[in-house]
Amino acid sequence: MLIKPSGVQRGLVGHILSRFESRGLKIVGLKMMQIDEALAREHYRDHVDKHFFDMLLQRITKSHVVAIVFEGSNVIQNVRTMMGATNPSQAGPGTIRGDLANSASLNLVHGSDSPESAAREIALFFADTELHNYERALDEWLVLEE
Ligand code: RTP
Ligand code: MG
Repeated sequence: MLIKPSGVQRGLVGHILSRFESRGLKIVGLKMMQIDEALAREHYRDHVDKHFFDMLLQRITKSHVVAIVFEGSNVIQNVRTMMGATNPSQAGPGTIRGDLANSASLNLVHGSDSPESAAREIALFFADTELHNYERALDEWLVLEE
């Protein structure tokens, strides 16, 4: 997922990360960077025909982002549920967008929407050496195999 420039500029990086971490999602990649136009075009290539594409490029490149790779069961759905609907006016209370955003254009976060898009996006933002494989003692209390 990405904490977009709106989240970085509003000083919400720690708060947003903390929500996911408290939920038990495991951080396996984490970096701050500024997305250039070429990367933005590639990242948002599925939206190239949308009327808001140019605005999308402008907003995601305007300042820095924090890119995070989470691991966990049902991680894609969990992240998207916690983000809330794209348009914050339809995002439920308790979600990041529902609690903290009021504009679809400045909706703070991006989450991959399928395993395929997650694999594609992770490869765009992270080198293999930036992804970490480690044991977390806490998993004994978070993940119960039934
Ligand atoms: P995201 O990709 O950022 O996680 O968000 P999403 O799946 O909920 O939304 P998506 O349909 O993929 O749209 C990507 C981003 O484009 C912006 N957007 N603007 N002005 C508009 O009508 C409009 N619609 C979408 C949002 O910033 C959205 O996150
Ligand atoms: Mg999307």
